Amino acid sequence: MRIGILTGGGDCPGLNAVIRAVVRKGVQEGDAILGILHGWNGMLTGQHEELTQRSVSGLIHRGGTILHTSRTNPFKEESGGEKVVATFKRLGLDALIAIGGEDTLGVAFKLFQTGMPIVGVPKTIDNDLAGTDFTFGFDTAVTIATEAIDRLHTTAESHDRVIVLEVMGRNTGWIATYCGLAGGADVILIPEKPFNLNEVAEVISARHSYGKNFSIVVVAEGAGMDTGGGEGYVKQDEGTDEFGHVRLGGVGHFLAREIEDRTGFEARVTVLGHVQRGGSPTPHDRILATRFGVKAHELVREGRFGTMAALVGNRVDAVSLEEAVKSLKTVDMDLYRIAEIFFG
Ligand code: F6P
Repeated sequence: MRIGILTGGGDCPGLNAVIRAVVRKGVQEGDAILGILHGWNGMLTGQHEELTQRSVSGLIHRGGTILHTSRTNPFKEESGGEKVVATFKRLGLDALIAIGGEDTLGVAFKLFQTGMPIVGVPKTIDNDLAGTDFTFGFDTAVTIATEAIDRLHTTAESHDRVIVLEVMGRNTGWIATYCGLAGGADVILIPEKPFNLNEVAEVISARHSYGKNFSIVVVAEGAGMDTGGGEGYVKQDEGTDEFGHVRLGGVGHFLAREIEDRTGFEARVTVLGHVQRGGSPTPHDRILATRFGVKAHELVREGRFGTMAALVGNRVDAVSLEEAVKSLKTVDMDLYRIAEIFFG
């Protein structure tokens, strides 16, 4: 078979491990694998390169994606869907593997509905894709953020400060909840639960009153205030990307100011940003990404199009793309309640 593979959306540690797995298994079974460059943009322009066993050697530990990525939404372009189909035919493809999150796989599902043979692989450091218990990249992001909290603890304690750590998580607070729990954060704020500034200040003041003169607050970039309606979150500007997402960021600085004003304790901010997405994947993510790649190739070979490789319990199985893109997977509030036990 002639199989195309692309990576779309924000990059994520483990993408190269998926590509390597698809190529290694595909080549063993006599398939030709074509790397489509720059996500869906490559399916508009036709930019691609042949992938061989040699070209994917030495990739398992490398972050980023050798295929490059973009946030291109082909359906935002006039006749974009038709152009993608034309590229698919011109390249002589029999199937396409799309590695991405809700946006990339949303496009994949639309194309599948028009008859294109597509299989998905779930990717996002945010871990908010439905249908799979975990996405690869998440464990790496949590590991990086937890290490940051460990480091912030010692400096916060030395200076008797409140330090606010802003982590990624546009719509969901998976990274914040996991790293906050693992790092012993004193407050964790997530998009799923709008916060009240007075309550946050009270938790911190109460903690400081029993002799702990420092606090660590972890906030997901998409967390917002309980405004009783209206937009409670903080955004960088009014612009949106091709999938309609605003650029978030700034909630950490906002919180630090408000906490300082309300408690009188000195506050500082660390915005972890893209450090969470860069560098080598953890062993857990390398293995999960490899299992997803092998499964995706198997699904193509079996002709099970319109599905996505997914982690269900400890098994890698197939779920429908429709289920995966229907709604976001929000934080398990039972887990958040466990984290809350340790607030203050
Ligand atoms: O989708 C993953 C993600 O890392 C989000 O958590 C974050 O809001 C966004 O990407 C940042 O996007 P960009 O890399 O385009 O700034």
